[in-house]
Amino acid sequence: MLNVHDINVFYDEFQALESVTVKIEKGQTVIVVGPNGAGKSTLLRTIAGLQKPRRGSIEFEGHRIDRMEAHQIVEGGISLVPEGGRVFPHLTVMDNLKVGSYNKGARPIAKQRLPQIFQLFPVLADRRNQRAGSLSGGERQMLAIARSLMAQPRLIMLDEPSLGLAPLVVNMVFEFIKSMKQEGYTVLLVEQNANKALKVADYAYLIESGKMVFEGKSEDFDKNPYIKTAYLGL
Ligand SMILES: Nc1ncnc2c1ncn2[C@@H]1O[C@H](COP(=O)(O)OP(=O)(O)OP(=O)(O)O)[C@@H](O)[C@H]1O
Ligand SMILES: [Mg+2]
Repeated sequence: MLNVHDINVFYDEFQALESVTVKIEKGQTVIVVGPNGAGKSTLLRTIAGLQKPRRGSIEFEGHRIDRMEAHQIVEGGISLVPEGGRVFPHLTVMDNLKVGSYNKGARPIAKQRLPQIFQLFPVLADRRNQRAGSLSGGERQMLAIARSLMAQPRLIMLDEPSLGLAPLVVNMVFEFIKSMKQEGYTVLLVEQNANKALKVADYAYLIESGKMVFEGKSEDFDKNPYIKTAYLGL
């Protein structure tokens, strides 16, 4: 479904990604783990069209997207929930969700979509008339995810959805990621919380200093002695 092939990404002279390749099949949950500054967010931002690769290609459902504008990529079915989520604090939960459906494809079916979203996120149904700014951190993260699902993405990318959340809420977020998979969503997840992320992943990549240094199934990660000490605290 997604084929990131051998990309280089720079911020001016600084090379943030070097020869990075990532593949995702439809319906998979794929994770990218790695330390601060490794290039995880840069990878997601590049797929979303917010950065342009200087080399390599990105294909989504068989079409090149690496020269497309960010809004075209969203309309093409990929959505990004950035670090820390992003909601409109002065709008209600309901209005935030409606704003999420403002793209050509999603608008007509937004009404049918809401009940499905509320089923996946019951807490948002209870809070539908509350201002987003008054939600807890975890609820806000869920709203950010729910909002991007309103746009009917076929691939959803989540940038560290568990960051800054209490352990119980982190567990809830990972439960949602699991239920999204059961609903058939394809998910690309970036996480520092490698232990938990590996449990929900079909396939995983480790990125360090802009380069992919390891990839495999979660069992392969568990077996690797370097990864065990450096990332899994085992
Ligand atoms: N706009 C920018 N201009 C210059 N350098 C940047 C910019 N954005 C990111 N970088 C640099 O690129 C590298 C990769 O950053 P990136 O945000 O992709 O890392 P990350 O893996 O997401 O880290 P974290 O886990 O802390 O979120 C870092 O060294 C960062 O300082
Ligand atoms: Mg990041």
